[in-house]
Amino acid sequence: MKVLVIGSGGREHALVWKIAQSPRVSALFCAPGNAGIERTARCVPIAVEDIARLRAFVTAEGIDLTVVGPEGPLALGIVDEFRRADLRIFGPTRGAARIESSKTFAKGLMVRHQIPTAAAQSFDELKAALAHLEHQPLPVVVKADGLAQGKGVVVATTRDQACQAATSMLEHRVFGEAGRRIVVEQFLDGEEFTVMAFTDGKTVLPMVPAQDHKRVGDGDTGPNTGGMGAYAPAPAVTPALQLTVIRDVLQPIVHALSRLGSPFTGVLYAGLMVVRGTPYVLEFNARFGDPETQVVLPLLKTDLIDVMEAAIAHRLDQVTLEWHEQAAVCVVLTSAGYPGDYAMGAPIRGLSQAPSSEDTLVFHAGTKRQGNDVVTAGGRVLGVTGLGPSLTVARERAYRVARAIAFDGCHLRSDIATRALQSVS
Ligand code: AMP
Ligand code: GLY
Repeated sequence: MKVLVIGSGGREHALVWKIAQSPRVSALFCAPGNAGIERTARCVPIAVEDIARLRAFVTAEGIDLTVVGPEGPLALGIVDEFRRADLRIFGPTRGAARIESSKTFAKGLMVRHQIPTAAAQSFDELKAALAHLEHQPLPVVVKADGLAQGKGVVVATTRDQACQAATSMLEHRVFGEAGRRIVVEQFLDGEEFTVMAFTDGKTVLPMVPAQDHKRVGDGDTGPNTGGMGAYAPAPAVTPALQLTVIRDVLQPIVHALSRLGSPFTGVLYAGLMVVRGTPYVLEFNARFGDPETQVVLPLLKTDLIDVMEAAIAHRLDQVTLEWHEQAAVCVVLTSAGYPGDYAMGAPIRGLSQAPSSEDTLVFHAGTKRQGNDVVTAGGRVLGVTGLGPSLTVARERAYRVARAIAFDGCHLRSDIATRALQSVS
């Protein structure tokens, strides 16, 4: 079987790594890929949102299955277009992907189906938003309605900050069209975690719970990023809590989308906050998380291709996911300045001395090959995943390898997974 993965980040490297293990895959392609992915898959220089060229490539190459990594092409309707052309593709339609591409849509659906989430109101006029902000308790959360690469959320501790966030989104359009509308949301205080699930629009198969680290600095300080590291399984998520998430969040939203005529096929991501034992939804994503994928897929025993095919054929009820009894910790290395402006093109040292092994996996994100060098080509550059019998061991392994890699301006958080270790000890 010939498979194409769309994307170029750490998530896609993990997808390529996992898919390559399937005995059913005879050829693996990635568009556009990166310097790490190209060791396992043939990289083709097509941008993730160039749907026409992707479709032409898939047809010409006789690709049997396309797997979409990022949200951009999903929101543009790549799945709808591939299905119309009778091409097999794993991911939700544009209608179903609205669960991520419009926070207002997601909120509305959650409210109608009594799925626990922070109280919120949407605005497309600045004057009304500012008037509303006058009366909100602090902190208050201001979010761009559309896709903003994980950066469109401001947790404002002062009224000034909140008004500035609303102004920069609605008036100065710092997130472009994604900020044409904003959502002003009640602040929730609790433990955050992620549950991703495979779904075919009926059956929900959850993966092991994970925790992301969104802030750029140690101790959860500084601005939000796409994600600085992750670990799984998250010990704070007890089996009972996981069941509550399936019953009160994942199943109701999947059924709601189906009833709406937009059944969701693919991976549904729930970003959750536990407040007094109740999991509240912070956001839904219509795809695998990054960097959660880099810790969850290494723990999955089941052939990923089998799961994806079953989802497309609406027979996930016949699949049982099997997991390795292990823990995984991923440490992300970023360019100096990220999530703001950052430099690129710095040679990365230590990669050849840190090859992927059974217990450490080096996933490339923003990298590219330049002659004999691998150089930085993005904000998040690499993610090193350590595996082991416990989070402590997995963490040590991840940091040992992450610290052996260096490039100018390299930044990493030194406290990935420490919260989990404190909570179990
Ligand atoms: P989101 O992209 O919506 O998940 O938001 C990014 C991050 O902002 C989350 O991971 C949380 O840390 C934080 N956040 C979002 N919504 C809220 C909320 N209602 N209360 C507190 N923190 C929030
Ligand atoms: N890790 C957060 C995300 O993938 O959106």
